[in-house]
Amino acid sequence: MRLYLATSNPHKIQELHALLAEAGLDIEVHTAEALGGMPEVVEDQDSFTGNALKKARALAALLPADGLALADDSGICAVALDHAPGVYSARYAGENASDLDNLYKLLDELDSVQDLDRAGYFACHLASVDASGEETVFVGECHGNIIRKPRGENGFGYDPVFVPLGHERTTAEMSQEEKAELSHRGIATRKFIAWLKERLM
Ligand code: IMP
Repeated sequence: MRLYLATSNPHKIQELHALLAEAGLDIEVHTAEALGGMPEVVEDQDSFTGNALKKARALAALLPADGLALADDSGICAVALDHAPGVYSARYAGENASDLDNLYKLLDELDSVQDLDRAGYFACHLASVDASGEETVFVGECHGNIIRKPRGENGFGYDPVFVPLGHERTTAEMSQEEKAELSHRGIATRKFIAWLKERLM
């Protein structure tokens, strides 16, 4: 079986690759580049699952017969902001905003929120679509708190302001392996791997 990652985000590719490699599956893992590049997809759905399926379906249209497309739609949700930015995480500060612009927009929006009310969570919805059109979705969430000042150099996006429950360091202060143990992407990917193992048996 050949698995194709329906994303061009290098951070997601790196994290997914590492999680899949340690699972020791008998599959080839490719990026969308192997199919000519990730098709342009407008992420206009109002749910993570909707956007993930849209991305996976777009790449699935290009799959070989033994192929499986896997797309990740993810983001951070602040409870005090009615779960924003959610599906808009990648463009919270505007269409062409950088990760840093988005992070500071979140900190601005939360500025008047007390420390005890800064609960939030990362969500990752992975959609897999095979060449016959069969669709499956895997969900992972990582709950914690959104701090006031960025800390740490690892990871990407909102990692420097997110401290998982039961921890003191941000996910940007953790190694990729530590983050994968508890992250939304790690949880969703391990569900996908368990499903894939059954399917390959
Ligand atoms: P999308 O799934 O491409 O729509 O964008 C997801 C956005 O959510 C990213 O651009 C990041 O800003 C944020 N995000 C998703 N996963 C993570 C993570 O593991 N750490 C930090 N930020 C994340």
